[in-house]
Amino acid sequence: MAAITMKNIVKRYGDGFPAVQEVSLDVRDGEFMILVGPSGCGKSTLLRMIVGLEDITSGEMLIGGKVVNKVAPRERNLSMVFQNYALYPHLTVFENIAFPLRLAKTPNEEVNRRVKETAELLELTEHLDRKPSHLSGGQRQRVAMGRAIVREADAFLFDEPLSNLDAKLRGQMRTEISRLQRRLGVTTVYVTHDQTEAMTLGDRVAVLRKGVLQQVGSPRALYEEPVNLFVAGFIGSPSMNFLPASVDGSFLETPLGRFEVQDERKLAAVGDRDVVLVGIRPEHFEDASLVGDEKKSQGSIIRARVDVTEWLGNEQYAYVPYEAPADLAAQLRDLSRELDSDQLRTQAVVSLDAASTITPGREAELWIDTKRLHLFDPATSDNLTRDEEHVAELDRVAEESRAAQREAQREPAEGPGATVAEP
Ligand SMILES: Nc1ncnc2c1ncn2[C@@H]1O[C@H](COP(=O)(O)OP(=O)(O)OP(=O)(O)O)[C@@H](O)[C@H]1O
Ligand SMILES: [Mg+2]
Repeated sequence: MAAITMKNIVKRYGDGFPAVQEVSLDVRDGEFMILVGPSGCGKSTLLRMIVGLEDITSGEMLIGGKVVNKVAPRERNLSMVFQNYALYPHLTVFENIAFPLRLAKTPNEEVNRRVKETAELLELTEHLDRKPSHLSGGQRQRVAMGRAIVREADAFLFDEPLSNLDAKLRGQMRTEISRLQRRLGVTTVYVTHDQTEAMTLGDRVAVLRKGVLQQVGSPRALYEEPVNLFVAGFIGSPSMNFLPASVDGSFLETPLGRFEVQDERKLAAVGDRDVVLVGIRPEHFEDASLVGDEKKSQGSIIRARVDVTEWLGNEQYAYVPYEAPADLAAQLRDLSRELDSDQLRTQAVVSLDAASTITPGREAELWIDTKRLHLFDPATSDNLTRDEEHVAELDRVAEESRAAQREAQREPAEGPGATVAEP
């Protein structure tokens, strides 16, 4: 096991394209780190530089405290799983998993022991004599995983390993990977597009945009205290709504109506700006008729015309189109395009209680939890209202929960007989 440290890592491809720009990132020993960002932002490039499959243009890459810039991939002792994992069709599951050990000329007895342990861990024991073509997608994925973890690697690197699986299998494998990583405690860097994977798997998540690292933090810290418009819009689904607003004392004049910023700290953060972008997550709206009086007074009520509603059983979404000033509308459109979002019109997406009877085409009263809103600078995209104290608190809680989970995984309830040997 080893920590991975990146210092000002730059990657320029042969044609001069800057795929990764000055990325500095510390992956702690045993940590599960997620890399996310839109297509083409440099996730795979970064991962390939860690493994050694891609040269580093400048900066330093350290694994276990040693600079590895010039170290050959096979000497870095890392295991990588790709999206398009290739299994050897003519070899059994056993031999597919054993492959890296055979390459390293490991004695037979040890190969036997390690493959069996790995198969046990991945619930592949009864399939060891079968050929990959006879297995289901999820089983094949587990064989690929087995081949990666059978070696005593210092770290695991995953590049969208689940993207070829259907949604249900992906969900199952996700839980398995999480359990496995916590049990083995091996440093892991995991690249994904998938919101759910990013939010559920990692101890921390690193968000990349066009080769530049935007923010690193626990999933909660990213969700609740994003540093800028990009992270705010990228993390969370449906995305955070961004409303242009002109500032009038403690009031914000938005296309959805006028409401008050009741928080002194947030108000102070606005400074002398005339215009800001207000960020409100869909779940911080509610059908005003379903909100109790006490709660009502802690937020603001607006009247808006709902265009479409989508009832999903456990909740419902309502879409509220609005007009925005041309320059800000263009900025929001660019942002939503960059986020791979299909939301090209200026509209707010609000999440309402499933019991709400708000009807499309009519005016509705919506309550906004104004305590939860974020204010962004339209010029710099910075989150003006980020609360550093809250970030520290969220990080502390995440750290505690991570330690507790690891403790629980390492000491299974069945007693010492059930502990798992390192593969
Ligand atoms: N061999 C190459 N030569 C030149 N440019 C490249 C090369 N490989 C990747 N790039 C460029 O580097 C950027 C980052 O690519 P990378 O594959 O790291 O993105 P990614 O974040 O993994 O994207 P995706 O989510 O689509 O897999 C892209 O803009 C891509 O065009
Ligand atoms: Mg990629």
